[in-house]
Amino acid sequence: MIDYVDKIPNNVDLGRDRVLQRALEHWQPAYLNWWYDMGPNESHAYDVYLRTAITVEPDGWAQFGYVKMPEYRWGVFLQPRDAERKVNFGAHKGQPAWQEVPGEYRSTLRRIIVTQGDTEPASVEQQRMLGLCCPSMYDLRNIFQVNVEEGRHLWAMVYLLHRYFGRDGREEAEALLDRRSGDADNPRILGAFNEPTPDWLAFFMFTFFTDRDGKYQLCALAESGFDPLARTCRFMLTEEAHHMFVGETGVSRIVQRTCEVMKENKIDDPADVRAMGVIDLQTLQRYLNFHFSVTIDLFGSDASSNAANYFTNGLKGRFEETKLNDDHLLAEADYPVWEVSGDKIIEKRVPALTALNERLRDDYIREVEGGVGRWNRIIEKAGIPFRFKLPHKGFHRAIGNFAGHFISPEGVVVSEEQWKQHAREWMPSAADYAYVQSLMVGRVVEPGKFANWIAPPARGINNQPLNFEYVRFN
Ligand SMILES: [Fe+2]
Ligand SMILES: [Fe+2]
Repeated sequence: MIDYVDKIPNNVDLGRDRVLQRALEHWQPAYLNWWYDMGPNESHAYDVYLRTAITVEPDGWAQFGYVKMPEYRWGVFLQPRDAERKVNFGAHKGQPAWQEVPGEYRSTLRRIIVTQGDTEPASVEQQRMLGLCCPSMYDLRNIFQVNVEEGRHLWAMVYLLHRYFGRDGREEAEALLDRRSGDADNPRILGAFNEPTPDWLAFFMFTFFTDRDGKYQLCALAESGFDPLARTCRFMLTEEAHHMFVGETGVSRIVQRTCEVMKENKIDDPADVRAMGVIDLQTLQRYLNFHFSVTIDLFGSDASSNAANYFTNGLKGRFEETKLNDDHLLAEADYPVWEVSGDKIIEKRVPALTALNERLRDDYIREVEGGVGRWNRIIEKAGIPFRFKLPHKGFHRAIGNFAGHFISPEGVVVSEEQWKQHAREWMPSAADYAYVQSLMVGRVVEPGKFANWIAPPARGINNQPLNFEYVRFN
């Protein structure tokens, strides 16, 4: 029996909610079993310097301290309720926000929550071996932080399923612990969450690109007319920011180290760069191409009647919906999408309602461009004439109007034959993965030490020094 108030930090009055307690009594041990099986490998006895969400107060929502991860206090937090909040878009615009699930949207909302919830444990599974080849104790702590918070995000979605969806909610909550990333018989729901994360470069790219897809999905759900979902997602975003920070700075530090080595040794040929034990910029570009393309698939089809219905029914809004200056109904508006016609990519105006996936993808791409620009400034400062480029939206797509077509990173329609000829330049090859992984055999865990292929960060976690003992092995 768990002492709920103490073990599960929450602001949902869990101590007095018997129904929820009973549901969690079953689910919580199953969750821990999942963590023991699929959480970070060999990590269960480590004391890790982690942040734990303990309240929803903006200044002081989290506390730092050493925790064994299976004892992490996975909590349930919702942004405090605004009694005045309304449904802010779609056919129900102007009604008070819903505090219970509207019967007619029950199965759709459940599906939305399950799909979001499924990504959370999936990424933990994808990353579970990386602790064994970490580039520093600081990075080891960061991946564990991301992992426990993805675990908490699963709790957040499971809370909604248990609290608002009765028996089917409980069944879905269990199924979230049964699926496995990459499993042939029972895979995770979305494609990118079944791809392996085989090395730390892939991890940093994943947290930069794919956790940011998470941010955009959460932002759209934080606008939902179903208030508990909106408030849950709003609070999850506070943690998501750190995940994207880990990704952006992780790649920055790799770029910085590569540039230092290139400058010191006056080299620019990728083979020479590799000979120095760092990752050449061309390989970084190929990883970027891969992670960007599989992540933008996650936004779904360019034209989607589901997306239109989610919006019209008030279930999922646009990015920063309430800051947008229009009728929030989109009955008349249109929006540009792209499609392949012969050997050309042409713009087509379609009803904005059906193009909401594409619009969210475009919002996302704008933010990604900012991060890529910051990576490029590091290269520029080093005086090296190389720049990363985001590939064209149509490059290597499996979902939407570009699926089934072959598009170069520059956005030229090419034949399958041509694509295959260039695949080695455009996508990470088996040889690229083998090289990157050859740098990551064994882990670097002496406090203050960093692997040769990555620069130290600008500062430590929570004002601790870089040589702080972020993880104690027991
Ligand atoms: Fe998450
Ligand atoms: Fe995340």
